[in-house]
Amino acid sequence: MTAAPAIPKGLEGVVAAETEMSFINGQKGILEYVGIPIGELSAHSNFEETVFLLWNRRLPSKAELDSFTRELRGQYDPPAAVMQRISELPKDAQPMHVLRTMISLLALYDTTPNANDVASAREKSLKILASAPAIVANFDRYRRGEAPIKPDDSLSFAENFLYMLNGKRPTATMARAFDVCMILHADHGLNNSTFTARVIISTLSDVYSALTGAVGSLRGPLHGGANEGVMDMLNAIPSVDAAEAFVMDKLVRKDRIMGFGHRVYKTKDPRATDLQSLAKQLAEDTGNTALYEKSHRIEQVMEREVGAKGIYPNVDFYSATTYHCIGLKLDLFTPMFAMSRLAGWSGHLLEQLSDNRLYRPTVRYVGPHNQPYTPMDQRS
Ligand code: COA
Repeated sequence: MTAAPAIPKGLEGVVAAETEMSFINGQKGILEYVGIPIGELSAHSNFEETVFLLWNRRLPSKAELDSFTRELRGQYDPPAAVMQRISELPKDAQPMHVLRTMISLLALYDTTPNANDVASAREKSLKILASAPAIVANFDRYRRGEAPIKPDDSLSFAENFLYMLNGKRPTATMARAFDVCMILHADHGLNNSTFTARVIISTLSDVYSALTGAVGSLRGPLHGGANEGVMDMLNAIPSVDAAEAFVMDKLVRKDRIMGFGHRVYKTKDPRATDLQSLAKQLAEDTGNTALYEKSHRIEQVMEREVGAKGIYPNVDFYSATTYHCIGLKLDLFTPMFAMSRLAGWSGHLLEQLSDNRLYRPTVRYVGPHNQPYTPMDQRS
């Protein structure tokens, strides 16, 4: 009898879909959106243009970008009933749970929540993407006891979020830094949350369900939740000099260092390279150089100790310092990732809908057969 084929645990290496959005070469550390290297986009593009690129698989003309930006800004303000619910939530709720719940709630205020022809799904995706900043920023205001702030549709996606969060317009440097973070997190192949979105929409369910599920997947500490884990770690290390002993101790105990390692990258994640420059600059501008130095020291120790195993910084490692310097609270880090990744999830579900086939893998049964049914009073 031939042995059953090995199942790739965690589906590692399995090609489960085709995409025209992002390309990753994990050995060489390359990430491209529609063929454009991520570094080019973070240097020259903005989030709105990047979303257009992902959803249309080409760069927009000026008129197209203006029109897309207007369309997005026109949806910044979620239905009043949804915003009202925010003020009824427990103040100690976690923002990722709030975002997940509110995306689901948006479906109740859509007259055609199940419409999932590609054009309708695109409209719903745009509405959810545009609504997310108001939801996250105003939940944070509410738990701080601050009055809600309406979105300002004269502002970019990045500016508008920081404006609602802080009650004042961000400086150009902060807005640009945040915009770059949004570009860098927008899409990344068939990561767990993107796969989740594609699996859900493949049943011809609805956009709200697919994006709600994706947020749930992202919050796990092995996925987007790692950026909060990185900050916890940096806070637990008392000084730059203490970083080496901290890392060595963790490695001896076989604990994971958050923000390192990746299923696909076996070298430094190119997004980490961009975020590192951003983190360094912002840390200098905001008096957080010790935080940056701690991160850099950890990276050096990790490279020396486990670099040969292909464990390098991933996107979450330097995004923690970046978000901290932008002034974001720890539990808003993962929602920032989600706000940006809504673009990628949506692009993927549009791709899925345009050539759908239900995801339905099989499972190898490894339990017993032909067992007797034992009456209750005879069971041990
Ligand atoms: N710190 C220390 N060791 C790590 C590590 C980390 N962050 N990530 C992986 N490793 C080690 C494992 O212990 C294992 O070592 P072993 O072969 O000696 O047992 C080896 O690298 C392979 O790990 P494995 O869990 O099989 O890799 P994976 O592809 O399943 O893991 C991650 C990918 C992302 C889940 C993993 O690297 C991780 O847990 N990283 C920390 C969380 C994180 O930053 N997530 C964000 C991802 S963008």
